[in-house]
Amino acid sequence: MSQALDEIKIGGLGASRKRVEDSRFIRGKGNYTDDITLPGMLHMEILRSPLAHARIKSIDTSKAWDIPGVHLVLTGEMMATRNLAWMPTLSYDTQAVLATDKVRFQGQEVACVIADDPYIAKDACEAIDVDYEPLPVIVNPRQAVADGAPVIRDDKESQAGNVIYDWEVGDKAGTDRAFEQADLVSKLQLHYPRSHPSPIECCGSIADFNRATSKLTVYMTTQAPHIIRAAVALVAELPEHMIRIISPDIGGGFGNKVPVYPGYVCSILASILLERPVKWIEDKSGNLISTGFARDVYLDGEMALRRDGKILGVRIHTDADHGAFFSDAQPSKFKIGLMHSAFAAYDIPAAHLTARGTYSNKAPGGVAYRCSFRVTEAMFFQERMMQAAADDLGMDQATFRRMNFVRDEDFPHRTPFGFLTDSGQYAKCLDVGLKAIDYEEFRREQAEARKRGRLLGLGISTMTEPLGAGNSREYDILGIKMFDSADLKVHMTGKAIVRTGAKTQGQGHETTWAKIVSHELGIPADDIVVEEGDTDTAPFGMGTYASRSTPVAGAAVAMVSRKIRAKARKLAAHLLEVSEEDVEWELGRFYVRSAPDRGVTIQECAMAAYSNMPDGMEPGLENTAYYDPPNLTWPFAVYIVTVEVDPETGVWDVLKMVAVDDCGVRINPMIVEGQIMGGLTEAYAMANMQFITFDADGNCVGSNYMDYLLPSAWETPGFELHSEVVTPCPHHPIGAKGIGECAAVGGPAAFVNAVIDALSGTGVRNIDMPLLPDRVWEAITYRRDVSGAPPVRSDD
Ligand code: CDP
Repeated sequence: MSQALDEIKIGGLGASRKRVEDSRFIRGKGNYTDDITLPGMLHMEILRSPLAHARIKSIDTSKAWDIPGVHLVLTGEMMATRNLAWMPTLSYDTQAVLATDKVRFQGQEVACVIADDPYIAKDACEAIDVDYEPLPVIVNPRQAVADGAPVIRDDKESQAGNVIYDWEVGDKAGTDRAFEQADLVSKLQLHYPRSHPSPIECCGSIADFNRATSKLTVYMTTQAPHIIRAAVALVAELPEHMIRIISPDIGGGFGNKVPVYPGYVCSILASILLERPVKWIEDKSGNLISTGFARDVYLDGEMALRRDGKILGVRIHTDADHGAFFSDAQPSKFKIGLMHSAFAAYDIPAAHLTARGTYSNKAPGGVAYRCSFRVTEAMFFQERMMQAAADDLGMDQATFRRMNFVRDEDFPHRTPFGFLTDSGQYAKCLDVGLKAIDYEEFRREQAEARKRGRLLGLGISTMTEPLGAGNSREYDILGIKMFDSADLKVHMTGKAIVRTGAKTQGQGHETTWAKIVSHELGIPADDIVVEEGDTDTAPFGMGTYASRSTPVAGAAVAMVSRKIRAKARKLAAHLLEVSEEDVEWELGRFYVRSAPDRGVTIQECAMAAYSNMPDGMEPGLENTAYYDPPNLTWPFAVYIVTVEVDPETGVWDVLKMVAVDDCGVRINPMIVEGQIMGGLTEAYAMANMQFITFDADGNCVGSNYMDYLLPSAWETPGFELHSEVVTPCPHHPIGAKGIGECAAVGGPAAFVNAVIDALSGTGVRNIDMPLLPDRVWEAITYRRDVSGAPPVRSDD
């Protein structure tokens, strides 16, 4: 007779548990970096460059030092005396902490003032006199490689021009053969505009060096506290065990809080020099102008097609604008960061990709904004290309995709660029989406509407994303292998605390990790507390980005729970006075196989671990697991949008959007839905309204929320979510795949495809994002493509 607990009642798998962290957030009781005040704390402000490219002739700080309340003025020259004027980046490049020789982008950090309060520090920054000699400016890859282009990184001896890397992957000869055999070649060129993750909370840090103990504590907005600890130890040459990084509540990260920023380094040095806590909180313009930009890639591709619709091969070339320093975090072996996940969902015999990265006079770019490195660009290009190819063939969009999908029985599948995808039911997801949007009926309506001059369109996008870096064989950051960890302590009363090497920024780890422990041990989720972000207490981990938490840290939580269960089984055998082999497990309880009524709960085992353990057993019920995933997890999604475009104004409205996401087993369905809705909202914003661009002088257009638009509930359309397709991940302990980024990755192409579909018959193949009304109007009116970065055509 089973007495197993009900997963839903204890808050285990399948239960839509409300986010426990929201209780403090919605009451205004969150504890963010800026909420922290330490005794004797000073404040730091940064002086930024007004010019995009200029030689620094001199910096006069004397007036700033004279202002009462100023304790320290830091310049690049002073940093250089401590070997800290430059720092290594996660991509093996170097980045200026404070400029010495030149400024290389507008907004670059030139000097810092530390004062009694932020207002004095700001005034003192304005009193610093910098004499600049302006230099010619580069704002796109074409200018970067032009003859006679100024060399932006003349600080690097080995750097002849502005090219960072020139790289290729795939089967060139096989792809050439595919193109020779093609009945038709379809071509497309795109620009994925520069955008910004723009978390509501900006970046900041409070460094607190205690000379008496030699301990450095830094409270900061980082998605990867252990990596920061390692970086501080290596760059500042401080002993790692004397560094404590605490990442308290984070108000959104989206990749923006992965890199190391000059502000962090300067606040640490200032605290060491002054022996007082130093707080630096970035303002919104500082965040928007200088930190972790994303995308900014020019994509050029062609597809070899057989007349019946079979794709024979694909060629892609990308030109990525990385800004002045190549500083985005990416696994060292993937120089353009997983761009070659393109076409992973399609069965394509041959593909070849060339990629070039260049420097420009823009802030460092290429950060993985809610995606795994360049996957967003890869999926966007893939699905825009699929639409163009189907149109060129005169084939139905859905049929063309379905006939080229990897089939369910073909997993694990080797993609054209060498990844091994794990599992999926691609055609089924598409069918669910088509039914939900009522595909055939919409096509009829569209044809009818067209006769009356109304422009309706339907866009399909699919995506599969490699989520959950490691494994450690293939992935590392600066040589540190990518895996993750969990530490679980079960107290004697059966309550528990779990800590991981991940760091939530709003994704709800406090809720979901507890659910995994509940599922594995039967301890109610409300009896489990989750802690992350403190390097003195959490086990070493690589942090949270690229939707890696569930695939890696979440798996570690399951594995450590199983270690605890194994010890609890020994305790149960001892309490039940039977051998371990005679003990069976059901959720929350061990029982005697031959007498199921005789059992002990996990809580009774926990008490025994501290009060009645068998002879020779180590007391306590706690353990740590490090999880090195055997492979990435590969979720899949289909997004379908219908739109109506007003031919008079170019304004387009979403009629309906359906999302079919298969992320394997859903740990917390409610959180998964929230993640998808958030991602679709960002996708809509990118397609419809968001851009940060630069004029010919390198001035950043979009460094405030008047110019860089964040979508609110008012303009965001509704989304219909479907969860009926579940393909458990074959190698994850509970079958889960990542979800956090999928909709932001796959969503943009669905919106753009829908608008282009509405314009079918006009000859328009492409409008680059964002699809602002004037750009759509221009395409309709002049029957031409609209390409490049708006609104200032600096790429002409
Ligand atoms: O790494 P990050 O937390 O950003 O992304 P994720 O691993 O995709 O997880 C985002 C949130 O969704 C977490 O709270 C997960 O535990 C939850 N999730 C889930 O409930 N079921 C899944 N199959 C995947 C994620």
